Amino acid sequence: MSPNAPFEPLRCAVVGLGSIGRDHAAILDALPETELVVGCDLDPTRRAVLPAEVPFVTEADAVLDRDDVDAVWVCTPQHLHRDLTVAALERGLHVFSEKPIAHSLADADAMIRAAERCSEAVLVVGHTLRFHPDFVVAMEAVAAGQVGVPIQLSARWNTGDHEGTVISGRTTVPLEMAIHDVDILRQIAGEVRSVFAVASTISPCGPGPDAVAGTLEFESGAVASLDHSWIMPSTTGMFSDHRLAVFGDRGTVYVETRPTPAQIFGPDGPAFPNTAYRQANPLIPGGALATADRHFVRTVKHGAPWPLTLADARAALAIALAMDRSIVERRPVEMREIEGER
Ligand SMILES: NC(=O)c1ccc[n+]([C@@H]2O[C@H](COP(=O)([O-])OP(=O)(O)OC[C@H]3O[C@@H](n4cnc5c(N)ncnc54)[C@H](O)[C@@H]3O)[C@@H](O)[C@H]2O)c1
Repeated sequence: MSPNAPFEPLRCAVVGLGSIGRDHAAILDALPETELVVGCDLDPTRRAVLPAEVPFVTEADAVLDRDDVDAVWVCTPQHLHRDLTVAALERGLHVFSEKPIAHSLADADAMIRAAERCSEAVLVVGHTLRFHPDFVVAMEAVAAGQVGVPIQLSARWNTGDHEGTVISGRTTVPLEMAIHDVDILRQIAGEVRSVFAVASTISPCGPGPDAVAGTLEFESGAVASLDHSWIMPSTTGMFSDHRLAVFGDRGTVYVETRPTPAQIFGPDGPAFPNTAYRQANPLIPGGALATADRHFVRTVKHGAPWPLTLADARAALAIALAMDRSIVERRPVEMREIEGER
């Protein structure tokens, strides 16, 4: 379809209306280029996160069987991404899958094969940092030669226990958090050769581990350090502390998402509207999550390239799985070990 074709909103469904599905639903309901036609969650109480006029169902099949859906946002837990994505693609529906693409390489490969088979439908993986303006600027600066050859990289993302207390034990810090930065680091420095990671044995949020330190060794010879946790007490008012640094033979790029240009300390607590991709006011679509949703509409309707390929999403998953393996086995893990054992 040409960019000048008559305007027809992309008719969207969101399956999984938990923390991220709720945000997508609010964005898709508000954007002019999308129409939220149905929301779905196993848990009937999640109906409350949808606008009253949007239909709600508890079975994903009831979404797939509708004839007024163009695209499905898969916002269920990671181990459920595969079945829903494959079923939607086989019905010709476009799919925006939340990251990680899946929880295993076997599931990721099944999804990639389904996308190849059902080539009239688009499958993308929503790695949100690819749409975060600070990280986009950093990647563009490195690509433009500002840093020269990347030699040492570091990524640090500590978020609050509001997240950790819910997630700990259900997924892992590498699969849930580090994978965002792993994808960016791999985009900047290339393929990863080996991974070593350790986890703190102090787990305030649940079964844990809640805090992980890791290193990546790249094929290029560059190295990266990773520092991720979801432990900061929410009583501190700190939502997220996220940093990236790339040191090369010609220069350095830093991303520092805190402090932000706008900080508001009001009766409802602190708000950082310029950096939080979960918008303070979900009725005003903005931030990296909304940018990703809008870009998906352009990808579906006009073929705009998605900034990461399915192979990129799979590679980030493999690195995060290697971190988990390294934590358990307390040794460096070669990437070829992970690839050899699907
Ligand atoms: N892009 C980001 O920044 C970001 C942030 C948070 C989470 N995520 C990703 O989003 C996905 C969901 O995470 P979350 O934190 O929103 O989880 P969540 O537990 O808050 O929400 C998942 C929802 O899916 C529902 N669900 C489970 N099985 C279902 C099924 N078969 N059919 C319909 N609904 C079902 C659950 O009831 C729940 O409401 C994960 O892959 C996670 O990694 C991405």
